Amino acid sequence: MERKKMTAPRLVAKKARHEPITMLTAYDYTGARLVDVAGIDAILVGDSLGMVMMGLDNTLPVTMEEMLHHCRAVARGAKYAHLVGDMPFMSYQAEVAEAVRNAGRFLREGGMESVKLEGGQEMVAAIRAIVAAGIPVMGHLGLTPQSISKFGGMRAQGKTAVAARRLVDDALALEAAGCYAIVLEAVPAPVAAAVSQRIAIPTIGIGAGAGCDGQVLVYHDVLGLFDRVHPPFVKEYARLSETIVEAFSAYREDVVARRFPAEEHTYPMSAEELAAFQQALEG
Ligand code: KIV
Repeated sequence: MERKKMTAPRLVAKKARHEPITMLTAYDYTGARLVDVAGIDAILVGDSLGMVMMGLDNTLPVTMEEMLHHCRAVARGAKYAHLVGDMPFMSYQAEVAEAVRNAGRFLREGGMESVKLEGGQEMVAAIRAIVAAGIPVMGHLGLTPQSISKFGGMRAQGKTAVAARRLVDDALALEAAGCYAIVLEAVPAPVAAAVSQRIAIPTIGIGAGAGCDGQVLVYHDVLGLFDRVHPPFVKEYARLSETIVEAFSAYREDVVARRFPAEEHTYPMSAEELAAFQQALEG
């Protein structure tokens, strides 16, 4: 079957058809190509790039310029997946007009097709304005990493009846504000399932159980590339860090032992030209 370009409305339609949605993060051209070829529905250029690409401790220092740099590379690599740009800390929280302008930059300068931002009812005004500007918005509730200072660390959310009820209300508010999907991060599975059943737009879970309408994982976690943190909800589908270190070590050993480069890794030169060259050196 011919593969169609995935769009925000097509993601919403997938929920109506009860078809699970797949999303992965990607941060560069090569990674985006691989994710796209695998048939993944959506690529999130997440601000998690602060940790996995830049070596930061959290997402807070990531800037608009850094996000746009990675978005442009991803946009060049992906043909079919829907492209979501993650709005970095302080690019949308302070003022609605600034939120709209920055969201617009993700589409105009970053090649993205929608934006994601974190927060519940307090973000409704910004979401409405961004959507009114023609930019689809994906919400993000639960463990919202830009609020780690408020949470006191990377802690699961929605674990009390009161907090779970607030999460449902936040999801309803985001849907009413015009979001086309909501990421639910690190919330108990029954709470995520209850949210998913109460809204018509898809929920995309990460550490939120099987009751969500889709799932998202971080590129480096799926591939086993990042060993600094191991969230319990991650399933590693490969352990590429070991494969890569093995390959680099084999290369180093080959160079040291003069096994690389071999004849087949060099450019040929005709015998005549070589003879003429040697003569020129001698003369
Ligand atoms: O930044 C990110 O990668 C994210 C996902 C974990 C949802 O927000």
